[in-house]
Amino acid sequence: MSARRVDPARDVARTETAEPVTITVDGEPVTGVRGQSIAGVVMAAGRSASTGGALRRTAGAGAPRGVFCGIGVCFDCLVTVDGVRDVRACQRRAVEGAVVTTQGEPLPARVERVEGERRG
Ligand code: FES
Repeated sequence: MSARRVDPARDVARTETAEPVTITVDGEPVTGVRGQSIAGVVMAAGRSASTGGALRRTAGAGAPRGVFCGIGVCFDCLVTVDGVRDVRACQRRAVEGAVVTTQGEPLPARVERVEGERRG
C-alpha cells in the first residue's frame, strides 16, 4: 500500500514533492511523508485494529484499539514513542527514525481481581 491515500495528481496539498519519513512500528519500518502524524503513517501503510494491526490493546479484555477519532479525544491510539508511553499517535507528527511500539500490557493482578468482582 502507498504512503499516499490520495492520487498525487489530484492532491491539492501537492504532496508529490514531500519528503519521505521512515519510522519503525514494533520493529517494522513504515514510510510516510513529512508532516503526517504517526497515525497517518500507520494507516497509510494499511495497519488498523480491524486488520489485526492494533496500536494498543485494552488492559482488561485485551480488545484491539486503533485510530478512532483522529483528533486527540478518544485516546484509542496510545503508543510508546522513543520510550515515552501513552503518546496519542494521531497528535504526534512522525519524525525520521522514531521508534513506535504498541501498548497492551494486562492489568496488574490486584486490578484484574477488582474488575472481575465488578463483573460478577
Ligand atoms: S484516535 Fe482518538 S485520540 Fe488518537
